[in-house]
This record gives sequence, structure tokens and C-alpha cells, in this order.
Amino acid sequence: MGLYEVIIESGADSILLPEILASQGLPREKIVEIENKKKKYISIFVSSLKDAKKIKRVVTRLRIKGLKVRSRSLKNENWRDKWKKDYKPFRYVGEFSVVPAWLKNKYPANKSIFIDTTVAFGTGLHETTKLIGKLIYQRKGKFNSFLDIGTGTGILAVLAHKCGANNISGIDLTKEVIDIARENFNLNKVGVSNLKVKDINKNSCTVKYDFVAANLNTLDLTKLRLKIISCLALGGYLAVSGVSLEKVAEYKEGFQDKRLKLIKTLKGKEWAAFLYKKNA
Ligand SMILES: C[S@@+](CC[C@H](N)C(=O)[O-])C[C@H]1O[C@@H](n2cnc3c(N)ncnc32)[C@H](O)[C@@H]1O
Repeated sequence: MGLYEVIIESGADSILLPEILASQGLPREKIVEIENKKKKYISIFVSSLKDAKKIKRVVTRLRIKGLKVRSRSLKNENWRDKWKKDYKPFRYVGEFSVVPAWLKNKYPANKSIFIDTTVAFGTGLHETTKLIGKLIYQRKGKFNSFLDIGTGTGILAVLAHKCGANNISGIDLTKEVIDIARENFNLNKVGVSNLKVKDINKNSCTVKYDFVAANLNTLDLTKLRLKIISCLALGGYLAVSGVSLEKVAEYKEGFQDKRLKLIKTLKGKEWAAFLYKKNA
């Protein structure tokens, strides 16, 4: 199998780029944001030159000023090493830092969230993941069962476990992503857990959870509102993220539900996240 990296660099608006690329049909779970001291860029890893060329065409067609795209062939070892170079430990929320899996032995397990990711979204660096992490952390010790809708690397589910929940579930669209989340659950010793390939669009929940988290995007959140709420126990908490600041009004219009009480809004530089409580 070949391995190709498509590198996309942009100017100041790069935070919105993953969403723009996903809206063009590129798989969201393969869009990886990389930030090092010198720059911030997006990489998409694919296994064929044909796929790499297709992505380059999609990006070029966007005609966004300052957007540069190139691709290169990688050997497997280079791919792993690249992550080791660019992905460093950082403070996530409260006492918890995100620590790349390969530094596991150097950091204390009780204050670390160990993450290994090459293709799944959820390094913790994206503002949407930071905001929703804060909402989960603020309810530390107040929930036991947790469902992560669109778990990616599993970072939010691991955080929920560290915040005292001991019945942890996560769903995502592909086996590739769920395998990565499983690996991260194992790295972080998440005990009782249930990870599944599942599209929330096609299934409502039969089991109800004390806390549900969904870091998706405005369109999906509003479209999937009833399915998402079906997963929530009476009196449970729902945290949603992935709403860009310019779409807050549109989101609020589309996500209204009498069963939910909005109890917290967090706004970052580019994104907003919301915490609700379901009426008991
Ligand atoms: C923005 S990422 C969030 C990842 C991680 N939870 C975080 O907060 O960093 C969104 C994730 O939702 C998944 N996803 C999108 N639509 C979904 C759906 N209908 N059902 C389940 N998962 C979905 C994507 O594959 C992706 O991994």
C-alpha cells in the first residue's frame, strides 16, 4: 500500500478550513490539523496517488486566496516520525494534558490523556474540542454514563472517564476511526466501554445516558437534533460543539427543543459550544 500526504496551507482563516473541506465531500475524519512552532497546516493522508490528486483538484477548485496545496509520497516510518516531531504535549482542560501516546511513560497517567492518532479527528488542538472539553470538565463527578457522538480519537470519552464516569460509549462512522478510539481507550485504561461503528442519522438511541457530547457541525447538529436528544436521560446533560460564530443564530433557530434548557454558552475565537440540561 502506498502512502501519500496532501498538505494544505492557508492564511489567517485556516481554522475554518476543515469544515470547508468536509463540505466539499472530503472525509472529515481524515482531515488532520497540524500545528508546530513555525506554522499551522492541514494534512490528509491517503493510500493512492489517484486519491491525492483528487483532493488537490478539490482544493484548487475552491479558489481561496492564499490557499496552497501540494502532495508527497511517504514511507510508513516517516509518517509516524512526522507525528512524533509535530505533536507535543499541551494542557487541555483543568489538570489534564493531552500527551502523544509515544511519550506515555514520561507523564503521569492521572493527569494525562494519551492520544495516538494518524487519521482520526480529535488531537485536542482544535478549538471545538477545547470548548466541549471545558463543558464536560465543568460537570466533573456529576455523571456516570457518557456517550460521545462522533468520537474520532475518543478524546472526549477519555476525558469523561477521567472526570469520573465509568460507563463510556462512543460512536463514529467508520471502523478505521473506531479502531483508533479503541486503541486510545486501551492506552488510557477506560474500563467499561462500548465503541461502535454507527451513524446517528440512521439510529435513535435505546439506551439513555447521563451526559451526551456531540462535536459535529451546525448542519448536522440541527438535522440530527431529535436523534441526539433521544440518547439523553431525563435530567441529563448535553454538550454540543462545532458551531462557527457566524452560524450561532442559524444553529439556535434549528436546535430549539422544549425538553432542553440551555445552561451554558462558551464562545472561543472562531467557535461556540453549548451545554443543555434535559428536563427531568
Ligand atoms: C469534529 S469530529 C469530533 C471528534 C472528537 N469528538 C473531538 O471532539 O475532537 C466529528 C466526528 O464525528 C463523526 N461523525 C460525523 N457525522 C456522524 C454521524 N452522523 N454519526 C456518527 N458520527 C459522525 C466524524 O466522522 C468525526 O470523527
